[in-house]
Amino acid sequence: MSTVLPGQTARVLSGMRPTGRLHLGHYHGVLKNWIRLQSEYECFFFVADWHALTTHYEDPRGLEEHVWDMVIDWLAVGIDPANATLFIQSRVPEHAELFTLLAMITPLSWLERVPTYKDQQLKLKDKDLSTYGFLGYPLLQSADILAYRASRVPVGEDQVAHVEITREVARRFNFLYGREPGYEELCRAAIKKMGKKAGKLYDELRAAWLTRGEHEALTIARELVEKQKNITLGDRERLLGYLEGGGRQILVEPQALLTEAAKMPGLDGQKMSKSYHNTIGLREAPDEIARKLRTMPTDPQRVRRTDPGDPDRCPVWPFHLVYSTDDVKQWAATGCRSAGIGCLECKQPVIDAVLAELKPIQARAEELANDPVLVRNILAEGCRKARDAAEETLKDVRRSMGLEYS
Ligand code: TRP
Ligand code: SF4
Repeated sequence: MSTVLPGQTARVLSGMRPTGRLHLGHYHGVLKNWIRLQSEYECFFFVADWHALTTHYEDPRGLEEHVWDMVIDWLAVGIDPANATLFIQSRVPEHAELFTLLAMITPLSWLERVPTYKDQQLKLKDKDLSTYGFLGYPLLQSADILAYRASRVPVGEDQVAHVEITREVARRFNFLYGREPGYEELCRAAIKKMGKKAGKLYDELRAAWLTRGEHEALTIARELVEKQKNITLGDRERLLGYLEGGGRQILVEPQALLTEAAKMPGLDGQKMSKSYHNTIGLREAPDEIARKLRTMPTDPQRVRRTDPGDPDRCPVWPFHLVYSTDDVKQWAATGCRSAGIGCLECKQPVIDAVLAELKPIQARAEELANDPVLVRNILAEGCRKARDAAEETLKDVRRSMGLEYS
């Protein structure tokens, strides 16, 4: 395991299906969050290309272009390969191996009752989604997460059920395979190896958690275990599992880091999404962006310039909330309600702010698009690092399932 500073032990993992070039909704809703996380945690961000195929298996043309376009946008907005490991799911076959192994222990009913299974089948009616791969979508996602022993998974509301099933699968796995013979003795031996002082602290913290339910104690105890330099990886996992009373914690139960609901709706006030044709692409031409904003709908009750309006009814207003200073917001709201300003006037500061925000992003994206070798090298390096990390887990998983042959 890589050495980590106390308080920085958590691993973050998230993935995105390759849908091609990204828009402002992705930027404000997801990527800014990733950028913040990459400086706080050890982060893994990946292109979920297999997940894309679960629904778009009939038409894989364009997939490759979508992958590179998406990665260019990640890099252009400031996802930094020096801070986060960026990779492509299909280049890390450990995901598929873990998916297969987890499939052995996952009851069919768990997958059938995941809400997205039926929802998406209804929503994407024109596609035949009665496939084995689509049913397995959440389990593949579980493999993505568990392969890295990620403890935090930033996702939107719609993905929370997938993190939940991941927790259940991890728990079942640990229950089935975490109980090795002589477990208790091995734990005691591992505690000894920590040294007298740390060992005693571990026992006290464990008791505080197990007998008094003190959450704080569990957190501190986990950090204590992570910090130990003289114990093996196996011991480390044993001690983490022992803390919670159970067997060896081979797979880590992740937590969803819920991404706030979209602050950044589309041009029509609905969620910004390609399928609604209401997006502003990160790499769209400035003229086109300005045109889209100038023509976007406003308060439907403000028909004439002389009609007072209400920002709360206007799709432009959320843009002000994202982009404008308090002064500008005040000016726009007052001017709107008193019919003191026209809608075009009101939109101008938003147009200026969006274009100013996108300018450096577009410049960077252009550089990256002109340097495909650089982008491919970044991903190749990320895939290598990801494989190393996943391989550590897979070794343990194989051993636990009796697949370690000498
Ligand atoms: N299913 C996710 C989505 O559609 C993408 C995804 C795949 C993912 N694997 C993941 C997200 C693992 C977080 C963790 O948005
Ligand atoms: Fe919307 Fe601004 Fe026009 Fe009011 S003045 S309706 S907030 S665009």
